[in-house]
Amino acid sequence: MFQDEYLRIIDSTNDRARELAEKGGPHGSGVVAEQQTAGRGRLKRPWFSPAGKNLYCSYIIRPVVPFSEYPRLTLVAGLAVAHFMNDLLPGRVGLKWPNDILLGEKKCGGILCESVLSQDRHTGGYAIVGIGLNLLLERNELPEELRDRATSLLIEGGPRLMPLDAFNVLRRHLLACIDDWQKIGFQWILERWSSFDIMVGRQATWVTQKREVVTGVSLGPDSSGQLCIEDAQGTRHLVVSGDVTLARE
Ligand code: BTN
Repeated sequence: MFQDEYLRIIDSTNDRARELAEKGGPHGSGVVAEQQTAGRGRLKRPWFSPAGKNLYCSYIIRPVVPFSEYPRLTLVAGLAVAHFMNDLLPGRVGLKWPNDILLGEKKCGGILCESVLSQDRHTGGYAIVGIGLNLLLERNELPEELRDRATSLLIEGGPRLMPLDAFNVLRRHLLACIDDWQKIGFQWILERWSSFDIMVGRQATWVTQKREVVTGVSLGPDSSGQLCIEDAQGTRHLVVSGDVTLARE
């Protein structure tokens, strides 16, 4: 059975879930909080986490694949969130590699997966899948600097969904996608993920960690989940980390 924790306030649900995982917390168990004081996103960016309006949660995942394949979880979780959102607002959800959840062209959520190769042979390797989703935020509650880029389920005309309900339903989608990944294979996940991909065929710019700039057409994720960008010379670049932005049309 799941061992969940429901909190009023926490620094980051990912950190709390990690503590629970270290103590043997079972696969699929989660932490959900009404508010985060140090919520974080990819590339150590702060994650806007006001009280009571959004979903902030982290699930303990104990995959039965080699540790080297754990990074694929970000796309597996993205597909799960897309299925979840698509049930609420059919035809509106998009995915931007690697971890952005969009409604239209605006971001309404993100995924932060953190993998841990545990020293303890009983707990083995595990991952924490952290998900932040803007549910009940009104437009005027978004910070000024996010208004052009961010949105919420409510702003886009979706139902008034309570974070706790979202936490439980989302878990069902997440565990189902993880099962499919392990039983059917990553290719199957990728094909479905690609049907939500908002980048494919569009002009994208990748700024590498060494601040080099690569511009080209996004070909979508390759068979291992890394994004492939083809530049004007026909050279294909695999995005390993850093930021990818889309040219606005
Ligand atoms: C991103 O888009 O960069 C990822 C955002 C992930 C935010 C969630 S909120 C719940 C969990 N706890 C955190 O500190 N981060 C994730």
